[in-house]
Formats: sequence, structure tokens, C-alpha cells
Amino acid sequence: MKRYLICSGKGGVGKSTLSVCIARALCARGKSVLLMDCDVGLRSLDLLTGLGQSAVYTWQDVLSENCTLLDALLTDATGEFSLLIPPAALETPPTAEDFSKMLAKAAIDFDFCFLDAGAGTDGIVPTLAKASDAALVVATPDSVSARAAAKTAEMLWQTLPPERLRLLLNRYSVSAVRDGVNLCADDMIDETGIRFLGAVPEDAGLRVLPCGRDISSRTAAAFNRIAARLLGENVPFSVRKL
Ligand SMILES: Nc1ncnc2c1ncn2[C@@H]1O[C@H](COP(=O)(O)OP(=O)(O)OP(=O)(O)O)[C@@H](O)[C@H]1O
Ligand SMILES: [Mg+2]
Repeated sequence: MKRYLICSGKGGVGKSTLSVCIARALCARGKSVLLMDCDVGLRSLDLLTGLGQSAVYTWQDVLSENCTLLDALLTDATGEFSLLIPPAALETPPTAEDFSKMLAKAAIDFDFCFLDAGAGTDGIVPTLAKASDAALVVATPDSVSARAAAKTAEMLWQTLPPERLRLLLNRYSVSAVRDGVNLCADDMIDETGIRFLGAVPEDAGLRVLPCGRDISSRTAAAFNRIAARLLGENVPFSVRKL
């Protein structure tokens, strides 16, 4: 099981939305995915996935051995997509070894695990980076988000080699780049120093819950390209199709 930390310096750039949609795109390709909501106190994946109704246990309960991993997993109808929700607060922050041990148990059943972090580079985010194989840094195409992504990369490089970091641009619009409103992908790559994975367009359908239900075919194709690249396929980048 490949473990990806999904993180950003800046809040609200789309980490949780992209986690769900990339996970779904991988499931559509026959992979099984575990989503771990790591935003302690501010969980959102239960709402974004529509899987929250039956939530009883959190991953903290698994770590504290109040329940088994299986007890805490919320699984959708396909059986390929599961969610772990976070506690409302952490008394003692878990160690990277705690997370790694729990994820090692999940490795039997899942091909991918996405650890959806809260915004910023502090709290449990560095610990989550240590428990991950790689990180996807999410940013919107503007200089504030680029600076935050660059700071996130500096934190991640303490744990992960640069080639294990990938940049995901969200709310990317070719016309906004042309009009000078947004930075282009090349500028974002230069400013963050992170290798590019893909871009997701602005799409009002992404705001409809459960997340990704009403997305356009263009947006679905963008998630499909990102999923293919995560699976090691060589999907070329073009100006119109990042
Ligand atoms: N490509 C997109 N097009 C339109 N709206 C989007 C897109 N991506 C995200 N959004 C919207 O932006 C808002 C923030 O998204 P989301 O909660 O996924 O961000 P986040 O980075 O996880 O936030 P936080 O830092 O609070 O965890 C949501 O209302 C979501 O619907
Ligand atoms: Mg989030």
C-alpha cells in the first residue's frame, strides 16, 4: 500500500476535495483506497464522501486499542473505498511509529492510503509526513499559495526526498492564466520547487456533496490523468490538458 500525505501550507485550497476525487478515480481503475481524515477537530471527509452516518470510532480509537481497524473503517457500497475519521482532539499526539503500525495493518486490504492533513506545516503534519511514502502538495495558482507550498516543501524535505513530493494545482484555469489573473503551471513549479503531478479545473460541481458527484467530464478527465500518473502511467502534459 502506497501512503500519500495530502497537504498544503494554505487552508481551503482543496486538499480534502482532491483526496476524495483522486481516491474515486483510483477506485474506478480497480484500486482500493483508504482515506484517512487527519484534520483533528475539523474533519470534513465524512461529509465530502457521504460516509459519516455510521461513524462510531476514530483512528485514535484504533491507536488506543479501543477498537480494531475494521471496527473504525467506514466503507462505501463498492467495498473499495474506506474512510477513517479523526478524533475531535488529541490528548497525546501519536508518533509516526503509531501511525505506521496502524497503516501496516491496512496495507493488506488497500492499494493506496491518502492522509488528508489540516492546513499548515505544524501540529501532527510533520509526524504524518514521517508515516508517509510520499506527499502531494496542493496549491491554487497564485503567489500566496505558491509561497505556502514552498514552505510546506521545506518542511517535507526534512523527512521525504524531493522526488517523493508532487505538486497538485487546483482551480486552474487556462483563460485566467492567459488574462494574467493566475500563475501558470511552470511559474508554480519554479516558485515551489516541487515536481508537477497535475491540475484540476475550477468546477462548481465539486461543491455538491457528496463530493465529485456532479463534476464535468473535463474535471473527471483531470482526475483520471492524475490517477493514471500515480499508477506510473506516462500521461503527457499539454497546455490545455495538464
Ligand atoms: N476545483 C474546484 N472548483 C471549485 N470549488 C472547489 C474546487 N476545489 C475545492 N473547491 C471548494 O473549495 C472549498 C475548500 O475545499 P476543501 O475543503 O477541499 O479545501 P481544504 O484544503 O481541504 O481545506 P482545509 O484547509 O480547511 O482542510 C470547498 O468549498 C470546495 O468545494
Ligand atoms: Mg480539508
